[in-house]
Amino acid sequence: MQLISLQKNGAALESHEVKFWDTSWDFKTAYTKYSNHGLHTYPAMMIPQIARRLIETYGKHATVILDPFMGSGTALLEAKLHPNFKKAYGIDINPLALLISKVKTTPINPKLLWKEYHQLINRCVEDRKSANFKGKSVLTHSFINLDFWFKPEVTQDLVMIKNNIDLVTIPDKKTEQDVKDFFLVAFSEVVRDVSNTRNREYKLYRMSEEILKKHNPNTLQVFRDKLKSNAEQMEEYFKEQNNMCEVRILAEDSRAIKSIPNSSVDLIVTSPPYGDSGTTVAYGQFSRLGLQWLGYDKDTVLSIDRVSLGGIPTIDLTNDLRSPTLKKTLAIIAEQDPKRARDVLSFYVDFDKCIKELHRVTKEGAFLCFVVGNRTVKGVQIPTDEIIVELFQAKNHYRHVNTFIRNIPYKRMPKLNSPTNITGNHAVTMNEEWIIILEKQ
Ligand SMILES: C[S@@+](CC[C@H](N)C(=O)[O-])C[C@H]1O[C@@H](n2cnc3c(N)ncnc32)[C@H](O)[C@@H]1O
Repeated sequence: MQLISLQKNGAALESHEVKFWDTSWDFKTAYTKYSNHGLHTYPAMMIPQIARRLIETYGKHATVILDPFMGSGTALLEAKLHPNFKKAYGIDINPLALLISKVKTTPINPKLLWKEYHQLINRCVEDRKSANFKGKSVLTHSFINLDFWFKPEVTQDLVMIKNNIDLVTIPDKKTEQDVKDFFLVAFSEVVRDVSNTRNREYKLYRMSEEILKKHNPNTLQVFRDKLKSNAEQMEEYFKEQNNMCEVRILAEDSRAIKSIPNSSVDLIVTSPPYGDSGTTVAYGQFSRLGLQWLGYDKDTVLSIDRVSLGGIPTIDLTNDLRSPTLKKTLAIIAEQDPKRARDVLSFYVDFDKCIKELHRVTKEGAFLCFVVGNRTVKGVQIPTDEIIVELFQAKNHYRHVNTFIRNIPYKRMPKLNSPTNITGNHAVTMNEEWIIILEKQ
C-alpha cells in the first residue's frame, strides 16, 4: 500500500488517497447509552454511532450482517435497530460477551419484565430482613480468591440475589431463560461494582487498604438501581427493534467458523482485539469475577485469554504472512526484544486465519468494516490498519475503499495501560482508531 503523509483533522492530501483523518467519526459529544447499549460495560466497546454509520453507509443493500468479534454486541444491536436486516450473526469466545449480546438483542415484553423485577426485588428485600439468611449453594465450584475480591457482607448479598434469580419461574421456559439472563447481566455488572477491584480498570487490581476500609457498598441497592435502569432501557429497545431480524449468537472461534454457510454474509462490522491479550486488553481478566458468579468453572474462566487471538506466542519468527509492513515492524521490535516480537506475530498469524474464514462466508460485493487500534510495542507503533489491508489483498481480491482515522474522545478503551503489569507503570497506548473499509470483488 502506498504510504501517505497525513494531516491531523485535514482531508486527504490528494483525491486518490483513501486514508485520512476524519473527525466526523469522533462523535465527541454523542450519547452512547441509548436503547440497550448501556446494559453492561465491556472493554473497548465500539461507539454505537460508528456501527450505525457503517451499517447505513455500507449496508444499504445488505440483509445479513456478521460481527466476528462481537464483544458486548454493539454492532448486532445496531443491526436489530435497523429495518434492513434479516439475519445478524455474532461470534465470540468469551461466555460473558455471549450473554451480554444475547440479552441486549433479545426483546422482552416490558409488562412482564417489570412484574418479574418487582417480584425479584421483593424476595431479595424479604431475605435481607431475615437476618439469618444463609446462602444456598449458588457457588458450587471453587471461586478463585473469593475473600480477596469480596467483603463477607457483599458475598452474602450476592449469594442471596443470585439465589433469587435462579428461582424465577415463568410458564414459558424460553421467556423464563430470557428474563433470568436479563437479570444475570445486571447482576454481573454489579459484581464488579461491589467487588474490591479498582473500578475504572479492566485488569484486576485490588483497591488500596485505605480505600478498602471505606468500601462498604449496599449490594442490594446497587443491584436494584442497575436492574431498574436496564429495564427502562429494555422498554425503549422493545418499541424500536426489528422483529424480522433473527440474531444468531455463536459460541465459536472466528479462526474456524462452523455455523455460517459459504458466501452468505453481505456486511461485516467489527472491532477485533488490539493484539495479544497478555499485553493489551485482557477480556478474560475483565470477565473473571462476573463469570465465576454466573457459575463458570475456574478452567473455563482462566482459559479465555489463552484462546483469544494471539493467546499463545509463536515458537519463532518464521511465518508466511504476506504483509511487508508487518515484516518491517517485526524486525524493528525483534531487534529490541524477540519475545515481544513473537507475541505480536502470534496475533497476526491468528488474524490471518480469521481472514480466510471471513473470505469464505462473505458474498462478492460485501463490505468489510474493521475498527482497529494501532498499538505501540517497544516504542514502535504497529500499523495494524495497513497490515490488515495487506493480508486481505495478499490472498484475495479486495478493494481498499477507505481508512478513516478518528480521535478517541472518551476513555472507552484504556488510553493508559500497564504493559509491565506493575501498578502505576503506565504507558500511553492509543488515542486514535482506524476504520478500514474493504470491498470484496
Ligand atoms: C474489541 S472487543 C469487541 C468489542 C465490541 N465491538 C463491543 O462493542 O463490545 C474484541 C472481542 O474479540 C473477542 N475475541 C478474541 N479472540 C476471538 C476469537 N478467536 N474468536 C472470536 N472472538 C474473539 C474477545 O473476546 C472480545 O470480546
